[in-house]
This record gives sequence, structure tokens and C-alpha cells, in this order.
Amino acid sequence: MIKKGIILAGGTGSRLAPMTKVTNKHLLPVYNKPMIYFPIDTLKKSGVTELLIITGAESAGDFMKLLGSGRELGVHITFRVQDGSAGIADALKLAENFVGSDNFAVVLGDNIYEESFKTFFDNFRGGAHIFLKEVAFAQRFGVATLNKQNEVVKIIEKPKNPETNFAVTGLYLYDASVFQKLKTLRRSERGEYEITDVNQQYIDEKKMKASFVKEGWSDAGTHESLFFANKLARDIALGGNMKN
Ligand code: G1P
Repeated sequence: MIKKGIILAGGTGSRLAPMTKVTNKHLLPVYNKPMIYFPIDTLKKSGVTELLIITGAESAGDFMKLLGSGRELGVHITFRVQDGSAGIADALKLAENFVGSDNFAVVLGDNIYEESFKTFFDNFRGGAHIFLKEVAFAQRFGVATLNKQNEVVKIIEKPKNPETNFAVTGLYLYDASVFQKLKTLRRSERGEYEITDVNQQYIDEKKMKASFVKEGWSDAGTHESLFFANKLARDIALGGNMKN
């Protein structure tokens, strides 16, 4: 059972420059809403209303101005500030007090999903769970290799020659053992602490489960993916009825 959710909304958004020069990536518009509304909605749809948003000091005030306590959106929001931008896994360390010994979900603030994951949240009993999506160009993502039993045996972050087209999307279910794992990480080649390295530890312990995202999904960290995310958000808003 999962009742707490973390939204990671830090980083410099460098791939979206110059749009991110004065605006945090997760506050940019995606069709009809600021980007951060989508991960909030994903958690809400999955039965989670107790949220922690982690972002940088430069933008924390903007998030508070936009979201307040979360009451208007039907959620309860706590904020934490990440100093610097050393990657997703580094930001996640700040969630330890909020999480305590509970199981919880993490959503990357630029990931947009159409569906609810409530069944997975309700049935989660520990270890970790990731959600995969087949994509045309996997090089930009964490990429999962599965065995014949459809179990994940390996994840490689942004491989030059991906073994599969199964992208690891930005929703992760974890137990509290993740905080021990985070302490063992080293910086990757891009200078960040990678969520993929945490996930690989769960795989090595044989505690990782995976499912496929069934409906629409997009991240929004590049100009092309943000453009696609806008189309997906439009489809969601219009109930998939009005396409041009
Ligand atoms: C991050 C993760 C990557 C994942 C992607 C999904 O990449 O590191 O494994 O596939 O999010 O959006 P980033 O957006 O930081 O490049």
C-alpha cells in the first residue's frame, strides 16, 4: 500500500534553454496547465494525496505561489529545497524524513501519464516497481533488458546502442530501504547521482518488479518531448476525441 508521493522538480532544465533561464522546467505550460500539475494528478489518480515536492531554492517560492498547501488541488503538499542540482537520486535523499519507514512513490516532475496506477500502489508490498514503455529512440532514457519471464535483469542509463526499446519511465515505487542504497551511489559520467543505479541495486537483490505503461506517456525535458507532451496533454484534456 502506498499513501505518500514525492515529486522531483529540481534541476536546471538545461536541455530546454532558453525557456528555463528564468522559469523552472516544471512550471512551463503543457497545453493547459503548468507541467507540475501532471505528476500531482498521476499521484492523486493513484490514491496518493500526501505529497512532498523537492525543488531548487531559486524556484521554491514560485512553486509555493502556484500550489500553496495543495488544498485547491485536493492534496496536501510539503516542500523541500535541494541545494545544487546533483541529479534525481541526490534529490531523493531529502525525502527520508518525510517517508520514514513507509513505502512510497516517486514521480519525475516532467513525466506525464494518462492512466491511474492505483492497483499497483494498493498492491505494493516492498522492494521496487518500475513502469516501462516501448519507444522508438531509447538512447535518451534508462533502458531495461528483460529475460524470458519478463523480469528486468538490467537497466542501462542512456545507452549508445540500446539492447531493447523499453524505456524506464519516471514513476518508481520503493520501500524505505532505498535510502540505504542512495548512500552508496557515486556520480555518473554526466556528473549526477542516477536513479538507474538505485534501481540496479534492487534488480541485483531480486526485488525489482516491472510493468508496462498501457496508455499515453511522455516526459518533457527536451524540445521534442515537450512538444509531444503538449499533444498528449491535449488528448487527455479533450478525452482523446479531438485530434487534428
Ligand atoms: C531520467 C532518468 C531516465 C528515465 C527518464 C524518464 O532521465 O535518468 O532513466 O528514463 O528520466 O523521463 P533524465 O530526464 O534525467 O535525462
